[in-house]
Amino acid sequence: MSATLVSNDGWFPASWRTREARQMPAYADGDALRAVEARLAAAAPVVAFDDCQQLRDAMAGLAAGRGFLLQGGDCAESFDDPVAQQVAGIVGLFDAMGERLGPVVDGPLVQVARIAGQFAKPRSAPVEQHGGDTLPAYRGDIINGIAFDALARIPDPLRMVRAHMQSVGTAASLAAATASGDPIRTSHEALLLPYEEALTRRDPHGRWWATSGHMLWLGDRTRQLGGAHVEYLRGIENVVGVKVGPTMTADALLALADRLDPANRPGKLVLIGRFGVKAIEEALAPLMRAMRAAGRKVVWTSDPMHGNTAIAGTRKVRRLSDILGEIDRFFAIARAEDVHPGGIHLEMSALDVTECIGGRGPASVEELDKNWLTACDPRLNAQQAVDLAGHVAELLS
Ligand code: PEP
Ligand code: CO
Repeated sequence: MSATLVSNDGWFPASWRTREARQMPAYADGDALRAVEARLAAAAPVVAFDDCQQLRDAMAGLAAGRGFLLQGGDCAESFDDPVAQQVAGIVGLFDAMGERLGPVVDGPLVQVARIAGQFAKPRSAPVEQHGGDTLPAYRGDIINGIAFDALARIPDPLRMVRAHMQSVGTAASLAAATASGDPIRTSHEALLLPYEEALTRRDPHGRWWATSGHMLWLGDRTRQLGGAHVEYLRGIENVVGVKVGPTMTADALLALADRLDPANRPGKLVLIGRFGVKAIEEALAPLMRAMRAAGRKVVWTSDPMHGNTAIAGTRKVRRLSDILGEIDRFFAIARAEDVHPGGIHLEMSALDVTECIGGRGPASVEELDKNWLTACDPRLNAQQAVDLAGHVAELLS
């Protein structure tokens, strides 16, 4: 890479490669991987610079205390998703939730889906066991296959090409479906760095953007200050989300913000708290206080899903009561700390799935099997999501 393409204290799209990268697959065939990277580097961007910039501008408003971010969608997209139906579903769901939220939000309702690139999953355990057998964990369709079968679980770089093609189609459909109304922007976790690097492009002003999605976030398992994921994300202009879990300290969060956004640009960073209904009580206030004392112009939002996951047998269990409980506490703590409660981040489906317990969904663990469709974590079904939006609307008004 020539020196002119290097910016930001030695950052360039591949500078993550000298850092330790957690949660990344080991591809057996290096030549095949490099061929895929070259192909993606020459491929169409999934999203346009201008739209990424527009989301940055919208987020700056939220950082100034006006508006609300509704972010949500699948835990993991799948190569089997029927794209037209998926897009129609998420647009309809955002509309229905927006009907509840829009009228009571002071300022714009900013809409960002987990879509058109949400294909890579961090895993708590490297292996998965069924019956007596142990196989490598499923890491999302962009990496390996979900079938419990040794061949399917081998990471295949060609899956990146397929994920990219599907994402281009999904993002285009989403843009077309919202062309006459409020945009719904795209987002995903920036986990699979060879894919992200290949889609990183320079705009006419010489600024680097991830063109894989409008907003990318840093997962709770890959937020090591000296790690590869932080290194990649510090160089792009896109809105960057940071998952903030119960083990985050104020010092670590301050250091992370300094690394990801030394210039403290308003709304550049969205801090997505995902503590769990119990842990949020002690954990959130000191973090909000530290960011405020440092003058950090961030947006705080709440992901009430990922800290409220229990295991029953082989199923992940999430209860609506815990999810609502974490949202209630998020609002209460933010207000007590004089911080703008800036949004929510949900795993939700437009379908009538039975993945979270409570409300207009399954009443017990036994009912989860009825329509369990997720490729990874349990999502709210459409009715649960709309009811939750109504609940948040009450908190906002
Ligand atoms: C996710 O958002 O799907 C996820 C894995 O979140 P976290 O990194 O917060 O666990
Ligand atoms: Co998830």
